[in-house]
Amino acid sequence: MQTRIALAPGADLPGFRAAVRGLVARGVKPREVLWETGASLFGAAPPQDGPAFSLPRAAAELIGLVICHRDPARHALLYEMIWRLRHGEPHLLEMRHDKLTHRLEMLAKAVRRDLHKMHAFVRFRRVEDAQGERFLAWFEPDHHILEATSGFFVNRFRSLVWSILTPEGTLHWDGTRLEIGPPGQRGDVPESDEVESGWLDYYQSIFNPARLNTAMMQKEMPRKYWRNLPEARLIPELVAQAPARVEEMIARAAAMSAKRDPQKAVAAMAAQTPTTLAALNQIIMASPPFVTGGTRAVLGEGAMEPAIAFIGEQPGDEEDAQGRCFVGPAGQLLDAMLARAGIDRAECYITNAVKHFKFEQRGKHRLHQSPSTGEIKHYRWWLLKELELVRPRLVVALGASAALAVGGQPVCVTQARGPAQLGDWPAFVTTHPSYLLRLPDEQARRAAEAAFLQDLRAVRRLAQTHA
Ligand code: URA
Repeated sequence: MQTRIALAPGADLPGFRAAVRGLVARGVKPREVLWETGASLFGAAPPQDGPAFSLPRAAAELIGLVICHRDPARHALLYEMIWRLRHGEPHLLEMRHDKLTHRLEMLAKAVRRDLHKMHAFVRFRRVEDAQGERFLAWFEPDHHILEATSGFFVNRFRSLVWSILTPEGTLHWDGTRLEIGPPGQRGDVPESDEVESGWLDYYQSIFNPARLNTAMMQKEMPRKYWRNLPEARLIPELVAQAPARVEEMIARAAAMSAKRDPQKAVAAMAAQTPTTLAALNQIIMASPPFVTGGTRAVLGEGAMEPAIAFIGEQPGDEEDAQGRCFVGPAGQLLDAMLARAGIDRAECYITNAVKHFKFEQRGKHRLHQSPSTGEIKHYRWWLLKELELVRPRLVVALGASAALAVGGQPVCVTQARGPAQLGDWPAFVTTHPSYLLRLPDEQARRAAEAAFLQDLRAVRRLAQTHA
């Protein structure tokens, strides 16, 4: 004989519990029960209660979830689980491969997902009328989760007056009490409100194009929810803009990492393999300084494939201001000495080991600071690339920084002074013109100038032999 049990439609947890207690008390087997809800109640017995009994916690949790599922077989499946737990299978729920356990887990998973979606995708619209301020939302859950989800919204929006309307019923919170009312209509909730533009701005700002995965996004935010989500309107445009925004982010990240780790920045630059001096210069200009100070990159200038390329240390205050190398006091002295040595600056190429002015601000003054060995090495990739593209016949290192930059090894200028091989380059090592400017003693300066002039004359002769 079959026992027909009538439950209220939806997730009738109290009815199901009472019915189970009654059935267990009478020893009714699962296959003898016919579970019915809602419309088909005619002739079915209302639940007959019985004494309470306890169940493992996992089972109680599963019941709370599965009862919310739309599957009409949910009560029969749950009762079968309870029966088996009480008749020799207390570890049933640990047996994942058991057909019943597996099926119940699948149902619970679907309900959990539905709860999660409702928590995430309910969007309230503000309404103000004679009753005061209220917040209304429309949502269409897949399962009977209205009551199960109510605690979440009460906790979250306790101080507001709100209603969540669904096709199955309405949750209404008046600030102190929760009521579950009859089904609502989508049209009862306004399409938008003035809060929405703020929300859209927020959504736009948190949208991360680098993490865009449209398949994943649609899995997380299936299209059926889009109708009720104001931000969904933004998605097609944000998706279309994503590749360009990612490129921007990479460029910004490269600039940031250059500040933090110049070696990485140099490696990133090396990966770009510019094939013209103009392309290389663009990279240099777009890169942040590897030294403190430096407002702009000062690029090399002069003839391509020249007889001589002069390499200085770094731009100074005046060079930084004008954006050209060797135009300040040291540059003027160099020009004068070149003229005396019979070298036409316009026929040479002239550049620096370090492309930015390193300085310390002291009041109004910018005090020159020498670049460290590490800093010179960070700039070295640029210089070597520059020389490779300019192709001079002879490289003149003006001072120790330049010699280190070209050759990659520390050089003592007084010992190495004269013709040298610096790395791949036939070179000449001499002093830096600013060394001459710093000498306080007139006689010593004259002697240093004469030696420098002699070096430049030797450079001119050497360049001719490299023709
Ligand atoms: N000193 C240098 O080494 N380079 C310049 O451009 C100016 C001064």
